[in-house]
Amino acid sequence: MHLIFLCDKIDDRKSSIFLLSKIRQFIINMLCIWTISSVGRASASRAEGQRFEPFIVHHSSFKRKKIKLRYFHKSVLQTEAVAGLHVIPSKVYIDATGGGGGHSSLILKQLANSGQLIILDRDPDACEVLLQRFCNNSNVKVVKANFANLIEVLQNLGILEIAGLIMDLGISSYQIDNADRGFCYNKTAYLDMRMEKVGRSAKDIVNTYSVEELTRIFKEYGEEKFAFKIAKHIEDARKNKLIETTSELNAIIEEAVPQFAKKARGHSSKRVFQAIRIEVNRELESLKKGLQDGFKVLMPGGRMSVITFHSLEDRIVKNMFRQFVGGCICPKEFPVCVCGGKITANLVTKHPILPSEEEIKQNKRAKSAKLRILEKC
Ligand SMILES: C[S@@+](CC[C@H](N)C(=O)[O-])C[C@H]1O[C@@H](n2cnc3c(N)ncnc32)[C@H](O)[C@@H]1O
Ligand SMILES: [Zn+2]
Repeated sequence: MHLIFLCDKIDDRKSSIFLLSKIRQFIINMLCIWTISSVGRASASRAEGQRFEPFIVHHSSFKRKKIKLRYFHKSVLQTEAVAGLHVIPSKVYIDATGGGGGHSSLILKQLANSGQLIILDRDPDACEVLLQRFCNNSNVKVVKANFANLIEVLQNLGILEIAGLIMDLGISSYQIDNADRGFCYNKTAYLDMRMEKVGRSAKDIVNTYSVEELTRIFKEYGEEKFAFKIAKHIEDARKNKLIETTSELNAIIEEAVPQFAKKARGHSSKRVFQAIRIEVNRELESLKKGLQDGFKVLMPGGRMSVITFHSLEDRIVKNMFRQFVGGCICPKEFPVCVCGGKITANLVTKHPILPSEEEIKQNKRAKSAKLRILEKC
C-alpha cells in the first residue's frame, strides 16, 4: 500500500528522488520489523527446545523508527552497583538485565570507544526500548536473551571473556504496572506473567497444576503459610470455570485466606503472584545458570554486581558467591590444609549493600533490594 500510494507521485525528477528516499525508508522500516520478529522467533525456538539463535543488533548499522512504549523504571542502587564493577574503559561489560537501561547508561559513560557493552533482556518490550535508547552507540549491542544463555550469546559475538557483569533481578516497574502483562494482582488483566511473551503462561499453571504442585510453589517461591488452602480453593474454582484473569485469581486467594492472617502477614496475593511468576519464568534456575556462566567468563580481576529483591534470590547469590570464593574446606581441627582448595574469588561485600533511606523514600520498590559484589582472582 505504501508503494502503490507512492507510484502516483512519479511525475517529475523531484518526485522520483522523493520515491527513492521513501523506498529506502520502507526498506529500513522492514528491517526494523524483521529484527524485532527475529528476536521473538529466537526465543520461541529456545522455548521449544530448538537450537538457540539469539538475535543481535548492532546499533550504528541503521536508525530505528521510534515506536512509542510507555516504559518507566527507576533504577535501584544504580551508582553503587556500577561503582562496584570498577569499570576499565577498554573492556567488555555485560548488563544481563537491561530493563530501561539505567545501569547500562552509567556503565556506558565510563567506557571508551574500544570498550563494549552487551545488554541482555528476555523481554521484547525492554529490548525495543533499549534498542531505541542506545541506537547511536556503536559499542553497544542489545540481545534479546535469557541470561541463562550467556555463554551462547558471547560465543555468537566472538567474545571470550568479560571484565564485569551486572544483574538487577526480578521485573521492572514497566512490567509490574503495565496491566496487560498480568504481573499485578490489583490490576485486572489476562493471567500472563511471561517475561518473554511466549511459552507457558500463569493461566496454564493455575489451571493445570495439581493441588500438590501449586502448594509446593506457593510455599517454596512465595513462602505462603496458607499455600495448601489457596491451592484447594483454586482447584474448586476451576472445576466450574477456567481461571483467566488476575482479578479472578485475586478473589479466590482473598476467599481462601482467613481475615486474621491478612492483618498479620499482609496480602497473600502478593506472595502467591510472586510464586507463580517465578514458576512461569523459571527465574531461580536461570539465576543459578546465569551466575555460574557469568563467573566462568569473567577475566581475573573481573567483577560481578548482583541486586536481589527477595530472600530466595539473595540466598542463591550468597551461596553461589561463597562457592566461587572456594578456598580450604578442611575441618577446623586440622592443623594444616590437606584439601588444597584454592581461593578463586573475593567477596567485595561481606554484607550486602542496602539502599539508603533517601532512595527508599523516593522509590519504595528499592526497599527490599540487596547488592552483593564479587571479584574473581
Ligand atoms: C529490575 S529490571 C532491570 C532494570 C534495569 N537495571 C534499569 O536500570 O533500568 C529487570 C529486568 O530484567 C529482565 N530479566 C529478568 N530475568 C531475566 C533473565 N533471566 N534474562 C534476561 N533478562 C531478565 C526483566 O525482563 C526486566 O526487564
Ligand atoms: Zn584445606
